[in-house]
Amino acid sequence: MATRTTTRTTTRSTPRAGAERVDAREKVRGATRYAADDARPRMLHAALVPSRIARGSITRIDSTAALRLRGVRAVLTHENIGAFDTGGFLMGGGFGFQSFYPLRSAQIAYRGQSVAMVVADTLEAAREAASLVAVTYNAIPFVATLDAPDAEPLLQSAALPQPMFADRRVGDPETALKTAEVTVDMRFELPAQHQNPMEIIATVAEWQGDMLTVREPTQNAEGVRHGLAKQLGIAPAKVRVLSPTLGGGFGQKNSLQSHTALVALASRSLGQPVKLVMSRAQLFHNASFRPASRHRVRLGAGRDGKLLAAVHEIDQQTSRHDLFPSLGTEVTSRLYGMGHFLGRERLVRTDVQTPGYMRAPFEHPAAFAFESAIDQMAHELGRDPVAFRLANDTMADPLTGKPFSSRHVAECLVRGSELFGWARRSAAPRSMKASDGSLVGWGVALGIYKAAMAPAIATVRLNADGTVRVAVGGHEMGQGMRTAIAVTAARALGAPVAAIEVLVGDTDAAPQHVTAGSWGTATVLPPVLEAAQRLMDDLQRNAAATTGATATENGDTSTALSMLRASGRPFAQAESRKRAPGQPEQVFGRLTGGLPAAAGPEYPDFVSFSTIAHFVEVRIEPTTRRIRVPRVVSVADCGAVASPRTARSQVEGGVVWGIGAALREVSEVDARYGGFLNADLAEYVVPVAADIGRIEVDFVGKPDTRFNALGVKGLGEVAMVGVAPAIVNAVFHATGKRLHRLPVLLEDLLGA
Ligand code: MOS
Repeated sequence: MATRTTTRTTTRSTPRAGAERVDAREKVRGATRYAADDARPRMLHAALVPSRIARGSITRIDSTAALRLRGVRAVLTHENIGAFDTGGFLMGGGFGFQSFYPLRSAQIAYRGQSVAMVVADTLEAAREAASLVAVTYNAIPFVATLDAPDAEPLLQSAALPQPMFADRRVGDPETALKTAEVTVDMRFELPAQHQNPMEIIATVAEWQGDMLTVREPTQNAEGVRHGLAKQLGIAPAKVRVLSPTLGGGFGQKNSLQSHTALVALASRSLGQPVKLVMSRAQLFHNASFRPASRHRVRLGAGRDGKLLAAVHEIDQQTSRHDLFPSLGTEVTSRLYGMGHFLGRERLVRTDVQTPGYMRAPFEHPAAFAFESAIDQMAHELGRDPVAFRLANDTMADPLTGKPFSSRHVAECLVRGSELFGWARRSAAPRSMKASDGSLVGWGVALGIYKAAMAPAIATVRLNADGTVRVAVGGHEMGQGMRTAIAVTAARALGAPVAAIEVLVGDTDAAPQHVTAGSWGTATVLPPVLEAAQRLMDDLQRNAAATTGATATENGDTSTALSMLRASGRPFAQAESRKRAPGQPEQVFGRLTGGLPAAAGPEYPDFVSFSTIAHFVEVRIEPTTRRIRVPRVVSVADCGAVASPRTARSQVEGGVVWGIGAALREVSEVDARYGGFLNADLAEYVVPVAADIGRIEVDFVGKPDTRFNALGVKGLGEVAMVGVAPAIVNAVFHATGKRLHRLPVLLEDLLGA
């Protein structure tokens, strides 16, 4: 179990710049309404009953005692809920984080799975009644971990025969490894982790006639809408999903959840609105998580410091009912220029809910393994780890040979070195000490993450009272999307940021493509900008026509509002639709159908990635081996920086996540019982403010205009890629001990 440290380092950060968050005031005053804050007249409360076994079936459910409790209105089980459809699996043409939907049968697929849902007049009655539902099971043997003797890895390329899941092969890596002058062969392990957003998942369902309104924090309102319609057998037009603000998504909220239809069904049968708020423990078992993985990385290089070949093999946990694919080598194949590469992924079935996307889902684990091996190779070659990386950079994609739309790995490394003071590092492990005797280590690692885009439709409407309404498909989960949209629209219209109302996360406002994969900004800003520019053009043409002269000579065209007022029209409106480079027009059908439609990193003419270099100092207390991270310097290339304040905040958050991943976070499994043991925030240890020292963030800031008109790439996930290996590489520099398993625990360093 990880140990909580209480460092006294001051929390400092580089100065902030840019517009304030448009939702900041609401947030700090507690005025933001989250789904669980919602209260409808006559609203009922629901509570889930979790399975106590990891695999098998329900032989008997007795709800008598639960129903006797005052205020209990119903206990829904597979025996009485009636038939309802599945919402399918996101990675299999459907909408859900998994294909398994509890209460459709007596089957138990994982510990913590819902076996019943109680509905009552009050939350207290619902929760107490849930504890009184008596369930008898027929338990059968199960597999809890990757290492279980009967957990067989499946080759992903064979199990999922689609190009994106295939082995990634360039040249002849096996032969190149055999003939390389220097090789490393290393294995790494990473645990399951849970996203643990501050806001837990909650659902409020309300029917008005045959119209269903669902309020739920989701990154994918359109997917929830279409998935629910399928499950309930109603038209998508009869469902509205509202998710205007999330208190963190991190991938856990990127698809249809298994409980949402249960809440809608309960509300329909009882004729009253129903609210379900999961408990934190239930979040560990009823939503997705980062799967455990193990990695083997083999590298070959010449004595001259040139990397020649790499083989990266990944085993990743999946569920028994779904194959959740791994894309780890999508990034590690693009980190360095090498003529020979093999990336191979295997999936291991375990009896859990289907794992899913957790911030940098594959990229963080893959980079931990690969960048640790790169650090070891630099050490064996006697090269400086920054110089070694610079010498092996590439300006063409090693897999496809296409150019990158932009790539600034070298600038991230060089600028980061300068800001960090890397030149003062003494190369040998254990050669730097602090005045209190602590071992000091300086480590570096790279992160890259695909630059993706999804289709989006934006409308911008300007009213004569000066208010502007921007509607687009996207979700505000704290990352700052609303701010980036408002700033972009305000600048284009010459309007104050405060005049802009941003409508996102509402299926009535615009089709709401899933906001994930760091494609949010690159997806929403180009159509918002184009719609605003069209609105300006329209007003300028109108002004020119009515005055019979060019607008610039005769009217005030400094702002959209002055032109609108001069025209006498009550409002002006414009629309724009954008899709990723190379996407066909039909992709809008997937968008409006609630299906994922993002593209990247490969486009017809180029390959696109965001990049980051992290420089980390660790200090290791000599007797207790307590590890602290007093300072981090991170230099990112995300193309143009759309919103400096929220961008900086994204990177700081990503670094904190990396510190958590390296030193704290693990979802513990007891192989005898399955499920996750430390299912609360006391035992699932995340970094606290006292664990965080100085985080200095800088951006390359060069627009990638090959990628889109604004030149913006993604940032939310690349921010955490490479933080963990930079920390572990710093620990190696401090101690001479190479660590292969995350999180790093104090006992790993005893004797070092
Ligand atoms: Mo993110 S982990 O792609 O929602």
